[in-house]
Amino acid sequence: MDAIKFLTEQHREIDRLFDDFEEASGGTKKKLQLCREISDLLAAHATIEERIFYPATKDARTKEKLREAVEEHLSVKRIIADLVDLSEIDDEAEAKMSVMREQKEHHVEEEEKELFPTARKLLGAERLEELGKEMEDMFGELMAAGEPRMQVPNETDHPAQI
Ligand SMILES: [Fe+2]
Repeated sequence: MDAIKFLTEQHREIDRLFDDFEEASGGTKKKLQLCREISDLLAAHATIEERIFYPATKDARTKEKLREAVEEHLSVKRIIADLVDLSEIDDEAEAKMSVMREQKEHHVEEEEKELFPTARKLLGAERLEELGKEMEDMFGELMAAGEPRMQVPNETDHPAQI
């Protein structure tokens, strides 16, 4: 699948899960489950971008945007790290989830409006297909290995080097 289409579909899926999280009643198992699901998805999504898409996209025209992108990932990862071993969603966790959503929305908007259109021109259709396949495979492996969010606390010291 086209890399940009793949990443964009994941953005929409993450949005849907945040909607479900906000609709779920406070203190329920369902809410905790959604928090974990969102954290896993965001963790695996950030990893495939940092390991595959961002390095492939690196160029004089994207350098500054990518620097910002990995800083934004870092800030989301720090929130995920705070949430990984919670056993219930209290008011503090609700607030963290809501800040995480705002940060994710800002980040996604920049990717979709600025980085992705530039990347599409830089890479071309064939390369985007290849990268999409690589990301799909890596994403599948991360999810199959289980709970990718658990790796996030090891990634909060500095932004990913791409
Ligand atoms: Fe991203």
